[in-house]
Amino acid sequence: MIRAAITAVGHFLPEDRLTNADLEKMVDTSDEWIRTRTGIRERRILWDKDKATSYMAAEAARDLLRKRGIEPEEIDAIIVATVTPDMFFPATACLVQAAIGAKNAWGFDLSAACSGFLFALSTGARFIESGKHEKVLVIGADKMSTITDYTDRTTCVLFGDAAGAVLLEPDTEGYGLIDSIERVDGSQWDLLCMKGGGSLNPPTHETVDKKMHFLHQEGRHVFRYAVAGMADVSAEIMERNGLTGDDVRFLVPHQANLRIIDATARRMGIGMDKVMLNIERYGNTTAATIPLCLHDWEQDLRRGDNLVLAAFGGGFTWGAAYVKWAYDGDTVARTATAEVAESA
Ligand code: ACO
Repeated sequence: MIRAAITAVGHFLPEDRLTNADLEKMVDTSDEWIRTRTGIRERRILWDKDKATSYMAAEAARDLLRKRGIEPEEIDAIIVATVTPDMFFPATACLVQAAIGAKNAWGFDLSAACSGFLFALSTGARFIESGKHEKVLVIGADKMSTITDYTDRTTCVLFGDAAGAVLLEPDTEGYGLIDSIERVDGSQWDLLCMKGGGSLNPPTHETVDKKMHFLHQEGRHVFRYAVAGMADVSAEIMERNGLTGDDVRFLVPHQANLRIIDATARRMGIGMDKVMLNIERYGNTTAATIPLCLHDWEQDLRRGDNLVLAAFGGGFTWGAAYVKWAYDGDTVARTATAEVAESA
């Protein structure tokens, strides 16, 4: 049986930080409110107007290729999960393909908001499991600052910009994506959306005046659904794979709100020491949160570790994945560091 194993991780983070103190000067908010209600202290923002989502996605891809020691020509397919594509078309995946020189790859974008990376992982895995492809690049990237209204305190404190990438390759020894659950409930679409710019509300002076090109969220309502959704699928994937809290090495949750993550961990019966948590430093980077966590914790991961990935986002979309980690992260990190030292 062929499974899709994650064999490398890459990332990109803009250098500029937007702290809670900065936001206190922009809207009526406080560091204390943001920290206690969300867990966020600062986020990264790509202020450069000439650099968009494809730039961050390509940087994350380059980081991954360097760490895995492979050439871009070896990539068979590129899936970019994003709700902030550079433009409606061509797909961000096409721009990334050209930017990194992956001349043998095809690709497409996948839109599932904060569940985008999970859905892209599951989709990419099918190409590996079927034997069609040997190397699939799955990228989660969002330049959320371009659809954030920095006069709206209910949303502008939440989001940041970033990209994360993983490489999927075939494995026949039982490592990789073991199981996944994907869910959608479109009936609640208007609680979290961006109404302007599409074929329903094409851009006009009116859509701009009504701020319809910014993300809109009914936070309190989304919170209720998110807590239930993320906890339910995480518990379900553990149950149907016979996993107890002791068997799980890490929960890798979408980073939207510390309180949602905390509720999910409690439902799974695991302590916060087993939860990858970097919301404090990056905020909600939408499709990038989960691969960014994998990058940040890569050195701690060992072959055979059981990971549960979980997310909830606009759509509504939500899901969970059970991944058996395929490599010892400390060896890769050392190699990558050595390479950087060598080239310096
Ligand atoms: N600073 C100070 N006060 C604020 C701020 C702020 N930044 N934002 C809101 N408030 C106020 C509100 O106006 C409200 O005041 P009121 O009671 O006088 O009306 C009060 O704080 C409470 O507001 P709530 O919206 O009830 O606050 P809540 O505790 O729900 O926290 C939050 C808001 C953080 C947005 C939370 O609801 C949340 O995390 N929701 C889920 C987010 C999520 O998971 N989204 C899905 C992924 S995102 C995606 O897919 C793109």
